[in-house]
Amino acid sequence: MDNDATRLLDLAVTTAQETGRMLVEGQAGASVVQTKSSPTDIVTEMDKAADDLVSRRLREARPEDALLTEESGASAGGSGVRWVVDPIDGTVNYLYGMLDWAVSIAAEVDGEAVAGVVEVPARGETYTAVRGRGAWRTRAGRWPEPIFCSTGVPLNRALVATGFGYASERRAHQAEVLVGVLPNVRDIRRGGSAAVDLCSLACGRVDAYYERGVNAWDIGAAGLIAAEAGARVGGLAGRPASPEMTIAAPEPLFTALNDLLTPLDPERDS
Ligand code: IPD
Ligand code: CA
Repeated sequence: MDNDATRLLDLAVTTAQETGRMLVEGQAGASVVQTKSSPTDIVTEMDKAADDLVSRRLREARPEDALLTEESGASAGGSGVRWVVDPIDGTVNYLYGMLDWAVSIAAEVDGEAVAGVVEVPARGETYTAVRGRGAWRTRAGRWPEPIFCSTGVPLNRALVATGFGYASERRAHQAEVLVGVLPNVRDIRRGGSAAVDLCSLACGRVDAYYERGVNAWDIGAAGLIAAEAGARVGGLAGRPASPEMTIAAPEPLFTALNDLLTPLDPERDS
């Protein structure tokens, strides 16, 4: 099988855009069909339909690849490629008719993300990256443009995107952490989609991002896009990005944010 990153990206983009169109058509009638970790952690029938469509298209094109999706979990493969898929990142925004929700598809080769797309249909924006070839945004009807993080922004002037988990106790502690962050930055933004937040970082709409509780599918593609746009993407205190903590910003802002967060103990359980 051909594991060339550019060809993997082409398949990811075609699939994400088809899925985005289906989601736009189904948005008005979408409703909650299931809850997961808490009553506010919702799944709509469109999350499931989008998960099915992405999985079907990837399997048709590349039956030997492994797959990890938010709604169907993991399936093994033997090609060395694994697709990491969030069919809708920002499901609550999708349900409420807000703009920031996305289809996110990343391709990993031998465990490393090499290509990714974040399709944001309501904004008419497609964010892409191939490892080592920069990050790009394509707006409806325009040519692709390279995108870059803002640089040289000190912590006290930084617009910082973040998000919150679905469990009440975790949210209570996230609010305490925020009390320590807010007086030290320009402001915070809670956009409602980790994937879109990281793409906003990649194109300079925010300066930094941190969040506890994001999963591989939330940041698989967007983490690569942010890194290719100039961000360092990692965890707290030199650890790799993980569900415990993901921080993203260009240096030296990454280190300044890490140093602000560390004494606030953002990975504590409550
Ligand atoms: C959520 C969004 C949100 C983030 C949550 C995620 P979902 O994903 O990315 O911004 O704060 O941690 O779970 O549930 O909409 O796919
Ligand atoms: Ca998600």
